Amino acid sequence: MSNIKALELPKTPAWSALAAHYEVVRDHHIADYFAGDAQRAQQFSIDAAGLFLDYSKNRVNAQTLNLLTALAKEANIEQRRDAMFAGAAINETEGRSVLHTALRNSKSVTLKLNDVDILQGVRSERERMLAFATAVREGAWLGYTGKRISDVVNIGIGGSDLGPRMVCEALKAHRDANSPRVHFVANIDGAALDDVLKEVHPETTLFVVASKTFTTIETMTNAQSARTWFLQSGAPETAVASHFAAVSTNGSAVAKFGIDTKNMFGFWDWVGGRYSVWSVIGVAIAVSFGAKVFNEFLAGAEAMDAHFCEAPLAQNMPVVMAILGVWYRNFYAAPSVAILPYSEHLCRFPAYLQQLDMESNGKAVTMDGKWVSYATGPIIWGEPGTNGQHAFFQLLHQGTELIPADFILPVQATHMLKAHHELLTANCLAQSNALMMGKSTAQVRVELEKANVPKEKIETLSVHRTFTGNRPSNTILLPQLDAKALGALVALYEHKVFVQGVIWELNSFDQWGVELGKVVALDVQRALASGIDEQFDGSTRALMARLRT
Ligand code: F6P
Repeated sequence: MSNIKALELPKTPAWSALAAHYEVVRDHHIADYFAGDAQRAQQFSIDAAGLFLDYSKNRVNAQTLNLLTALAKEANIEQRRDAMFAGAAINETEGRSVLHTALRNSKSVTLKLNDVDILQGVRSERERMLAFATAVREGAWLGYTGKRISDVVNIGIGGSDLGPRMVCEALKAHRDANSPRVHFVANIDGAALDDVLKEVHPETTLFVVASKTFTTIETMTNAQSARTWFLQSGAPETAVASHFAAVSTNGSAVAKFGIDTKNMFGFWDWVGGRYSVWSVIGVAIAVSFGAKVFNEFLAGAEAMDAHFCEAPLAQNMPVVMAILGVWYRNFYAAPSVAILPYSEHLCRFPAYLQQLDMESNGKAVTMDGKWVSYATGPIIWGEPGTNGQHAFFQLLHQGTELIPADFILPVQATHMLKAHHELLTANCLAQSNALMMGKSTAQVRVELEKANVPKEKIETLSVHRTFTGNRPSNTILLPQLDAKALGALVALYEHKVFVQGVIWELNSFDQWGVELGKVVALDVQRALASGIDEQFDGSTRALMARLRT
């Protein structure tokens, strides 16, 4: 284990300056910052790529932001960013470039990697995928009995599931008459596949097996079972070609599985799984909403890329969100970040960000193989408002942990229930206001006295009903939950995570932490079957014995 102590900080000039500054401002109330600065809301906000970020409700003043920006500079953010966009092998532990940004690059003419222009491949593979999606949508791609495809089942997990699933849910309001029903199966728990198979018909269902490696046990098992179900329905072996497609970087494994590589869409090892939604992995998005919407999604991300590359650090939305996160994680020891979309259709967004952030920065070793002595990636969690208000917001308002929150709100609704949207909006603004302002004991006491609460009760009740406030948040406004805004939002968080990874000196693009469990699962499976389990601990052996009986 590393020697992590939450508040031990690197001893560089920028970290040291921030540490000294923290001692001065740590308890300063955000409300007092507002009281002393009429322009604070305007100054601490950024418009970029169609999104608006209000970060004025944070425990920072101009000097804090200057010092945090200096930290980003000291970490060479600009050079690292440029290296990533140019295709340098910044994923050092896997010897790979990190080029998900190339997937949405519509402006450059070429982008060479090892003397090969990768943009040509990106664009032609995307066109193939979009043509396939269009054929399915328009009924040109038919099932083996000549029927139109009514259901598409995406079988994949992690990055091969979370992105397409989140986007298909988020853009639900943009479905049209050509949209087939789209289902997602990820879990190895047979209940996931079984639930979907009960709803679909073999003659009208298209399975998309999405796996970068085409070795992931969950996906391979689900795909195999789907194939068996399909053939057991009476479909001939030759019909598999009309009902199974694959998205992968591993052509030989796809062929071995029995899917015709004509029905395979490819991508490359320089696209990380959790950054792959922009690639052909997004086929479920294209099938659901069509090529135009898919391209708008890419365009939104590309606009955020341009902002990230061009805006000065202090006015750079992903950079500002990243350094604020570092401020809370490393100085206030905030353990987590709450993602609070005020949008029912963004219900999968927190889960999407969990993989993006926690698989990227949930690490305790620096790029050059040293244990860190400071805190790194926080726990990411959240639920849409207003549901969360009636569940965990109690802890956000009055708990002992400081939990910075991101409120995400579409300005326009994608439905006609205007009154609902007004209430939703009011609740979103009310929550960030209440978290920041709180309510003093004196204020509560006056209210209780006015309500004629008996004197002996006022003393304790007024404490219970006190809100300390000073709880920070960002508010991100989207004009509307459409493909462009969603693309920009996802890219915003990708770059935020990147910046934090650079500041913490992590490799944000590998994921060794998921490997051990995979290997042990296979050992456990063997031991459960054979009864030979000496290599396991007492608890695991006892559980296995109980399960065997
Ligand atoms: O187990 C983690 C992981 O490797 C993720 O990083 C990835 O998104 C997921 O598994 C799925 O991998 P694949 O697309 O190769 O099936």
